Amino acid sequence: MSKAAAPNNTSSQLQENRVFKPAKEFAGRAHIKSMAHYKKLWTESVTKPDKFWSAHAKAELVWQKPFKKVLQWKEPFAKWFIGGQLNVSANCLDRWLGTAYANKAALIWEGEPATDGKPGEERVLTYSQLHREVCRFANVLKRNGVGRGDRVILYLPMVPEAAISMLACTRIGAVHSVVFGGFSAQSVADRIQDSGAKMVITADGGYRRGAVVPLKKNVDDALKLQDAEGKSLTSTIEKVIVLRRTWNEVHMAEGRDVFWHRELDYVDDKCPPAKMDSEAPLFILYTSGSTGKPKGILHSTAGYLLGAKMTSKYVFDLRDEDVYWCTADVGWVTGHSYIVYGPLANGATAVMYEGAPNWPEPDRFWRIIEKYRVTILYTAPTAIRAFMKWGEEWPKKHDLSSLRLLGSVGEPINPEAWMWYHRVIGGGRCPIVDTWWQTETGSIMISPLPGATPTKPGTATLPFFGIHPEVVDDQGKAVPKNTGGKLVVRKPWPSMLRGIWGDPARFKETYWTEVKHSYFTGDGCRQDKDGYFWIVGRIDDVLNVAGHRIGTAEVEGALVSHPSVAEAAVVGRPDELKGQALVCFVTLKTGVHATPELKNELRNHVGKEIGPVAKPDDVRFADALPKTRSGKIMRRLLKQVAAGVEIKGDTTTLEDLSVLAKLTSAEEG
Ligand code: WT7
Repeated sequence: MSKAAAPNNTSSQLQENRVFKPAKEFAGRAHIKSMAHYKKLWTESVTKPDKFWSAHAKAELVWQKPFKKVLQWKEPFAKWFIGGQLNVSANCLDRWLGTAYANKAALIWEGEPATDGKPGEERVLTYSQLHREVCRFANVLKRNGVGRGDRVILYLPMVPEAAISMLACTRIGAVHSVVFGGFSAQSVADRIQDSGAKMVITADGGYRRGAVVPLKKNVDDALKLQDAEGKSLTSTIEKVIVLRRTWNEVHMAEGRDVFWHRELDYVDDKCPPAKMDSEAPLFILYTSGSTGKPKGILHSTAGYLLGAKMTSKYVFDLRDEDVYWCTADVGWVTGHSYIVYGPLANGATAVMYEGAPNWPEPDRFWRIIEKYRVTILYTAPTAIRAFMKWGEEWPKKHDLSSLRLLGSVGEPINPEAWMWYHRVIGGGRCPIVDTWWQTETGSIMISPLPGATPTKPGTATLPFFGIHPEVVDDQGKAVPKNTGGKLVVRKPWPSMLRGIWGDPARFKETYWTEVKHSYFTGDGCRQDKDGYFWIVGRIDDVLNVAGHRIGTAEVEGALVSHPSVAEAAVVGRPDELKGQALVCFVTLKTGVHATPELKNELRNHVGKEIGPVAKPDDVRFADALPKTRSGKIMRRLLKQVAAGVEIKGDTTTLEDLSVLAKLTSAEEG
């Protein structure tokens, strides 16, 4: 573990004096209208958590059976709302039937535009229509042998059926695990193996920048993969359901693979929601850590839903008339909590877009905002920096006056990007909510409330209700204001992860041993004089590349699985667009020569092993990796080398890093 993080850079410090107060007319209509109101509620929520959560759980959720006890905390294992029963799909759908929301748009879907320049397809599903589709597909799942507690892998493009399959799983108590469409066959196989999934739901393909991503083909490949002993990784899979999206040719295995649309012929649209215990597993989502393969983060029913619902309502200040758009993919936790569960549990209208921000042109987002009169936009700093690079002329072509609130997530937002977002996209009038959270936290943890919290560019500001974060030193003691340290959370919260699937020891080790009696986030942070939290970024061996979380150990594992590679070390390098770029230092086996071809081959190899998102930006060959006397790779040093001047010309020559090691080993060894 690296040292506690240093204070933030000067450019953010300069911004500390720039304070943006919520406009009067905004605050006047907001759920939380003032700092005094926020502080009162927050204080109540952390001093009397049982009372606070009990009242909100009763008010926000529809229960099939009331809970008896709010929290049972046996560190690090929490159980929330014990004795209660409820169904997530019923909370997102059935509760709106027979109300004015029944015929309101739940999902507005915009497909990727066709290559010939025609606009994207469009589909709108009202609450009542979405309810019917979910019930029908839940019956398809049942018909194909899926029941309570069974794991189902979802490997789908960004189409309404992604949300429909998630909700259908929750309706019958099955546990979904969504795998991002940009992950490889190997990653799909690893997740099937780890979760013991019975079924894969996929599509013939998905569109990305005019090309077809062959999802079903990847699943076929995944289902053929074997371990070193020749044993199948995916023997638990009984059925594959295939959605027709692109209508490209796919292979269908007799008896195993069935088409979504054909299956619908056999079912009706009646499917009562299963009664699920509050703590019943809801979904598993794999995310990268600092060691080994990705871990299956487990979320459970009641606590997760309450967190997603309440944060959506208060952080995005949702109103009935809003058109809310979160640009994430459902393959990430942001898509789970803020495209599907949070908005639908609030009866909101959510936009879902299939394609890329710059296809066919860099104004794709702004076109969509103008077309649907989007009022709330939630996106990532890496996207904002790309828009800045593409130029103001693209947003300027469109009427963005419908926007009233902007959100940011995924990495620290640099003040320059914040200011641009505020001025160019928000027209200077929209509050920005910079929301800090993680796959593990389930919902937003630190964020402004837009009607109450004065914001400063670059800080996620203050904790959400019931959340008790602190910045601590290596001994776990809170540090004074304006001092860097580790970000921890002192108390359990309803939407916290319940564990790592199948690995309670790793759960304890990863999150609950670094700092005593606290959840360790892996992030470095500092609080300013107003108590605002300034997240610095990861201080473990996890990289954040364009908002995607990538474990260095995982990439190193992929590299050494290549026959030419002896050793590998992976570090991040600051990158203007992506936040961090992935730089790999590699030593080769005896007799293997460093060539530009090999460099490319290794990049592609990682892309194939993990997925295009993990493709290294740079592969550098070295004769030896700098190590401490105890044999630990000196990452700090490699980071400096990676961040230093690029070696011009033939970059494939071997770098003599062992020399550097000798120079510095005295200090680190
Ligand atoms: C890591 C979690 C939470 C959804 C997307 C990412 C970084 C996330 C912020 C923010 C600074 C942020 C942290 C965190 N992060 N949001 N607003 N400011 N950093 O989820 O893949 O689980 O990654 O993303 O480093 O630990 P994730």
